[in-house]
Amino acid sequence: MKGWLISNALFILLVIFWSFWHREYSSPAIVVGKTFAVIAVILFIINVNMYFIFLIIRKSKTKGIKKTLALFSRKMMKFHVPIAITATALICIHAIIMISFHPLEIIDIKKLSGILAILILSVHLFSGWLRRKKASGFRRLFHLRMAFIFLTFFLIHIFI
Ligand code: HEM
Ligand code: HEM
Repeated sequence: MKGWLISNALFILLVIFWSFWHREYSSPAIVVGKTFAVIAVILFIINVNMYFIFLIIRKSKTKGIKKTLALFSRKMMKFHVPIAITATALICIHAIIMISFHPLEIIDIKKLSGILAILILSVHLFSGWLRRKKASGFRRLFHLRMAFIFLTFFLIHIFI
């Protein structure tokens, strides 16, 4: 449990560090664009964590932990869709800023990987919508798989 919280914190610090400190100076517009993206990444990670919360609920043998996490997950799921929508809006602003102001050509690997990530995000949002409408085994797995495919692709975009 502690390890899980620490990994989350370390991951977020790594993204912030990578985004703002290892690069050379860029224009204020780019810094704003990156800030939007970093906030969105933190929100996406909160949603991805639902998988681990549900996993611990399923696997745990301690009744107390099961009950506490079940209550916590119910509260968190109230914010699941608003979090997804806010993060997507921030990523759209990030994309518009990068396409308008970044000196790289649109065919650059950084921009192409970003466009790929945003396309996968739209399929992922669709899978979430399907999942909420009717929860069949296929839809559950589809939303879960898409969550991790999306995670992989946005990580490639960030660290490439
Ligand atoms: C789900 C989609 C996306 C996520 C989560 C995301 C996230 C991020 C993050 C956290 C950074 C800062 C890391 C770094 O500087 O290397 C970044 C940089 C960047 N993103 Fe995205 N992004 C996404 C989509 C896009 C799209 C659609 C474009 C549009 C072309 C784009 C273009 C860029 C560019 C050019 C940079 C480099 C900025 C620089 O450091 O000079 N991104 N992105
Ligand atoms: C970026 C956005 C999103 C991410 C990263 C994400 C991720 C996840 C993850 C990892 C789970 C747990 C899956 C499991 O253990 O089976 C989940 C559950 C779920 N998601 Fe998403 N999701 C996102 C957006 C959405 C959207 C937009 C919707 C609906 C419109 C949605 C609806 C649901 C529903 C209904 C569940 C099941 C909750 C339950 O079992 O009580 N998700 N999501």
